[in-house]
Amino acid sequence: MTPAGEIIAAEIRKKGPIGFSRFMQIALYDPEFGYYRRARRDPFGKEGDFFTASQLQPVFGRLAAAAIRDLRESMGNPPGFQVVELGAGRGEMEASLAEFQYSGVDIDQGSYPEQCTGVYFANEFFDALPVDVAGRRVDMKDGRFVWTGQGEWREDPAGMRTQLERIGASLQHGYLLAIDYGFTERERIRFPRGTLMSYRRHQAIDDVLLNPGEQDITAHVPFTEMIEEAGKLGLKLRKFETLAGFLLRTGERDEFREALACGSETEGARLRLQLKTLLFGMGETFRCVLLERAHK
Ligand SMILES: C[S@@+](CC[C@H](N)C(=O)[O-])C[C@H]1O[C@@H](n2cnc3c(N)ncnc32)[C@H](O)[C@@H]1O
Repeated sequence: MTPAGEIIAAEIRKKGPIGFSRFMQIALYDPEFGYYRRARRDPFGKEGDFFTASQLQPVFGRLAAAAIRDLRESMGNPPGFQVVELGAGRGEMEASLAEFQYSGVDIDQGSYPEQCTGVYFANEFFDALPVDVAGRRVDMKDGRFVWTGQGEWREDPAGMRTQLERIGASLQHGYLLAIDYGFTERERIRFPRGTLMSYRRHQAIDDVLLNPGEQDITAHVPFTEMIEEAGKLGLKLRKFETLAGFLLRTGERDEFREALACGSETEGARLRLQLKTLLFGMGETFRCVLLERAHK
């Protein structure tokens, strides 16, 4: 049993079966043994378990910065404009967003500003937040974690709701720009067995209850629910598009010149490959949601 597994097992022994969001919270975020918290371990990158758009620097960062400049302009360049990145991870976006008053928030770093005028930016943040599964809990049997309960599989994005509430409370004027993979209500039918998935060394693993703390756990973002929840908090949907659509809209006006600017031929080849990966590798899988708070 993994150390995070021991913590979960002790909790189940004491209280009985637990909700999956609690399992996921410990497996990913236990301060000592959680997947994202363990010292000496780096889940990101080639040697890790996955890679993300934020790691395709500088191209992704430059395009995100250009998009945020446009958003700032649409707000009338207000004084005190800031960019808050949620789930900043290893801080890959920081250099690209340095022209703004930037702060990165992660589980053990930074915090939501009490009041924010500007942009909340979140890449692959919402898919890492704990979800419950309606009617089901996690129990133990013969030393392994097992699901209890039955019925139609429906994930309940408990963590997403909490974070949206925080954003809603903090954002006075501006936007939430979130990039993630997920599905709309019409697309839900594609996932009769839900969307929970684990990753380890770039391999997808179906059993999310295995080896807590040693493999990533993600859930697709339910975009329709996200947009509805945000609406209740006064954030209005401005754009919902593929990542490719978002990047093309942002880069097209100068034909990606700024995004691909570089000093040498080899550097140029590297940047073009980054753009291709973003547009063709990730562009149709990931989607971009832009929500606006007009004025509080
Ligand atoms: C899949 S990673 C993505 C990291 C980075 N944005 C990227 O694109 O490479 C999700 C990140 O969200 C962070 N995270 C999860 N829950 C959080 C919370 N409640 N507050 C802040 N960060 C959180 C995790 O620690 C992790 O670094």
